[in-house]
Amino acid sequence: MSDRIVFEKNGKTITLAEHSGFCYGVKTALQKTLKTVEEYEGTGRRVYTFGPIIHNDDVVNDLNMRGVQICSAPGSTEKDAAVIIRSHGVPASVEAALRDSCGQLIDATCPHVKKIHRLADDAYHEGRTIVVIGDAGHPEVQGIDGWCGNEAVIFSDPAEIERPKNLARLNRAEEILAVAQTTLNRNVWDACTEALLRRYPRAQLRCTICSATSSRQTACRRVAEISDAMVVIGGRNSSNTTRLAEVCALTCPRTFHIESVDELEATAFAGCRRIGVTAGASTPENQIASVEAFLKTL
Ligand code: F3S
Repeated sequence: MSDRIVFEKNGKTITLAEHSGFCYGVKTALQKTLKTVEEYEGTGRRVYTFGPIIHNDDVVNDLNMRGVQICSAPGSTEKDAAVIIRSHGVPASVEAALRDSCGQLIDATCPHVKKIHRLADDAYHEGRTIVVIGDAGHPEVQGIDGWCGNEAVIFSDPAEIERPKNLARLNRAEEILAVAQTTLNRNVWDACTEALLRRYPRAQLRCTICSATSSRQTACRRVAEISDAMVVIGGRNSSNTTRLAEVCALTCPRTFHIESVDELEATAFAGCRRIGVTAGASTPENQIASVEAFLKTL
């Protein structure tokens, strides 16, 4: 697979970046959800996802039409219901509480995230201090924090290391292990770990940015460099899509981060001959196709 030219006519080119759309973790979570829906059909028992299964309203609404509901706290479902943990994962305590409070727990945590949980859990029990380079408000990072006693030091800006609360924890650490949110921008990882090593040269680093994220960012950078405009499709609350838009904007100032084709206006592409398209890990194929169709009409 490589970047794909989806349209070429009268000097105008539309290129879809390699790795656009659903990643392995999201695809698997959706497959598990659909399989559970089939198994529970006609049983009178309900199927829930713990939070929206992916950052895409169309997909979430479609599932809702098929009876899938969203729950946000353990114990808020019927005792015989199925609950699906989404690819972001959850803290250990939430996983245990869900297991105790529902009929069947289906863990669709992405294997890349699960690997970080294990790293954090092991390091915590060995007495090491965990640093998570990522967004403290993101469910994935909160989940990782929950596997190390909610004691992780979390930041995504090198300057934040100097916060008194962070320094207090890091200064008393015997050993430090730094991991990354899977969707982190590689430049942010490099800048934050450089700052960490400057103060704590013996800190251990495990760059856990997932391969789907890094190859997607590399591909969109490559397409953005040769494009007059870039369209990045995906939820505004989707971390990986936001990173893609940031990466594209660095080399292609005319970058549009949209959630659906309705947000595009023809006038915004005046004078553009080469248009690139990429999409986040939660963006379905049909949304990418609608954007391509719109761009072809320009
Ligand atoms: Fe998993 Fe990476 Fe997707 S962590 S959910 S494969 S973006």
